[in-house]
Amino acid sequence: MAYLVFLLLLPWPAIAAAAQPLQNLSPLTAEEQRGQQIFEKGRSARGSKIEASLPGGVRVPASAVPCAGCHGIDGLGRPEGGIVPANVTWDALTKPYGHVRPDGRTRVPYTDRTLRRAVTMGFDASGNELSSVMPRFQLTMRDAADLIAYLKKLGETVDPGLTASTVRLGVLLPREQTVKNKQLVRQAMLHYFASVNGAGGVFGRAIETSFTELPSDTARQSAAILDFLHDQHVFAVLGDFTGAEPEIAAVMLKTATPAIAAIAPSPQTDSPLNRYVFYLDGGVTEQRNASDLKSADQRNWERATAAAEIITEAMTRAGRALTRGGLVQALEGFSNVQTSLPAPVSFGPNRRVGISGVQASALDPSNPAMGGRL
Ligand code: HEC
Repeated sequence: MAYLVFLLLLPWPAIAAAAQPLQNLSPLTAEEQRGQQIFEKGRSARGSKIEASLPGGVRVPASAVPCAGCHGIDGLGRPEGGIVPANVTWDALTKPYGHVRPDGRTRVPYTDRTLRRAVTMGFDASGNELSSVMPRFQLTMRDAADLIAYLKKLGETVDPGLTASTVRLGVLLPREQTVKNKQLVRQAMLHYFASVNGAGGVFGRAIETSFTELPSDTARQSAAILDFLHDQHVFAVLGDFTGAEPEIAAVMLKTATPAIAAIAPSPQTDSPLNRYVFYLDGGVTEQRNASDLKSADQRNWERATAAAEIITEAMTRAGRALTRGGLVQALEGFSNVQTSLPAPVSFGPNRRVGISGVQASALDPSNPAMGGRL
């Protein structure tokens, strides 16, 4: 217990730094872990019953409407059907200059007390009533303390693959292609990241890469990706998703791992939006046409390089305090970003296809194949 209190008294960055070498152990204290269970599952680790009141006074177990269901596992909030669940990371809740809601209303920073009131009674830090979409939760004082301890940690957790001096990216190599083709994707990535590292890395972090190739047996793919992420401590993934698009997307969502598909004939863009996976372009049509125009070699090289450029730019925009959530937000801010491909790349909160409607690899208007398309 004394040790616990000692940990809680440390300033947060000290805890984060201390947690870094222990990445496969949980960096969370017991209290924070109990809070995490409430946040993600709606269940109290202390055995108390947590109830939520919904609009109209309907009461349901909190496990039916856990915080993460609306605010996201990372707490950043994702707009859905016109409703914007707030960003509930500690940073956002306590910004010293207050916070402007999408509707323009402002509030002062939260304290532990006003945060408990928001969750249990539905008033924000300035006393404004929150939308009834945000359930009111019946929490014991101890459950509330656990939850708040975890909210303080949200957004501060050290993500896998990240240290003060390195960031590790996982690269999926093309399957069922020639050895030369695999080498090209590998070389394109190594070549680009070597130049970034040569110029000092991203905020002093050197980019490291781990390469893998998925098994062709679909049934084994999900487990293979999970093993790869776990064994290699990968911060984010990029590469060739061909033939395993749904499996890869599901694992990325489950593990909250950002990913950039350089090559993916079947992007998974159905609703609900998978926050974590970004596709270079719209897939099949683009690639089939492009293959008329360029050799597969050249295409793979260009796309691998573009994916490397995109993730480097996003990490740069996410800043020194890089997190997976921050990386996703930075990608969502891409508007007409130039890469070495001819067409610019744009993403958004509801957009996961970077180059849409046009071909990623071949925008050469002098090419006869373009005539029928544009
Ligand atoms: C059914 C969806 C839903 C669930 C579940 C939910 N919230 Fe919310 N929450 C919202 C919405 C929507 C808002 C924005 C309300 C508004 O702006 O009036 C919100 C607002 C908040 C705010 C206020 C943020 C601010 O900037 O003022 C906090 C804090 C919060 N939620 C925490 C939680 C916690 C903690 C849980 C779980 C115990 C939770 N929410 C569960 C939808 C949800």
